[in-house]
Amino acid sequence: MRSFLNYLGGKSRLASRLASRLPASRCYCEVFGGAGWVLFAREPSYVEVLNDLDGRLVNLYRVVRERPGELAAALELLPRSRALYREFLAGPEPEGAVASAAAYYYLLKNAFSGQVGCGFSASKRFPGKYSMRADFTRWARRLNKVTLENLGYEDCLRRYDSADTVFYLDPPYFGTERYYGGNFAAADHERLQGVLGGRAGRWLVSYNDCPEVRALYRGYHVEEVRPRYSAAKVAAAGQRSSAAGREVWITNY
Ligand SMILES: C[S@@+](CC[C@H](N)C(=O)[O-])C[C@H]1O[C@@H](n2cnc3c(N)ncnc32)[C@H](O)[C@@H]1O
Repeated sequence: MRSFLNYLGGKSRLASRLASRLPASRCYCEVFGGAGWVLFAREPSYVEVLNDLDGRLVNLYRVVRERPGELAAALELLPRSRALYREFLAGPEPEGAVASAAAYYYLLKNAFSGQVGCGFSASKRFPGKYSMRADFTRWARRLNKVTLENLGYEDCLRRYDSADTVFYLDPPYFGTERYYGGNFAAADHERLQGVLGGRAGRWLVSYNDCPEVRALYRGYHVEEVRPRYSAAKVAAAGQRSSAAGREVWITNY
């Protein structure tokens, strides 16, 4: 199934290819969860973990899973409006789990490129992507047994590591760290590589194809992948057109 979110760096176009590159396992853990495109595309494992350091995103998942009807009802009351978008962006965060989840969903749905903090997405050529009527019941069912975590990647990797764990990691691309609210700094790329080196479980990490990433993961299996991204996404990734959107998938298996 598809995710219920547009998301900056979301793996909507590569989800099924990625899902088929990840072996079956007793425990599946998505360390940089975002919109969870790969988890939703995969056959469920016995234990599943979706982690993200963004607390508002994790709250949104909890509300989708536990209070899908209330979330849908709260969204129906919100008109598509630039003024409201700006109000939610400026804060403060609405009180209560459902109201906060509704506001965050609204921001993600109405933001240009699915990036909260970017401008309101409105165009002369396309209708808005936001629909006030949403039905989350399929996702509530799918998330029923998924453990939702709100940990830093290092903590998450250590807690869920085992010989029968498969991790999928989709960290911020090299050079785009600033897009994710200060949770990931340039030095974290090296730190992440170090933590991955000590894992008993199998892992796949996806990255933009650049010399820094290739140097960092020298000695691992590196597969080159060419997704078809829109010009806007390529520009957001800050890459030159020759390398446009090219990824590498690095594995320890
Ligand atoms: C590229 S996005 C993941 C996109 C996801 N694969 C999808 O399909 O939507 C990276 C995610 O990592 C999260 N993140 C950033 N720094 C983190 C950290 N230090 N630990 C855990 N998650 C982090 C961000 O909040 C963001 O949701």
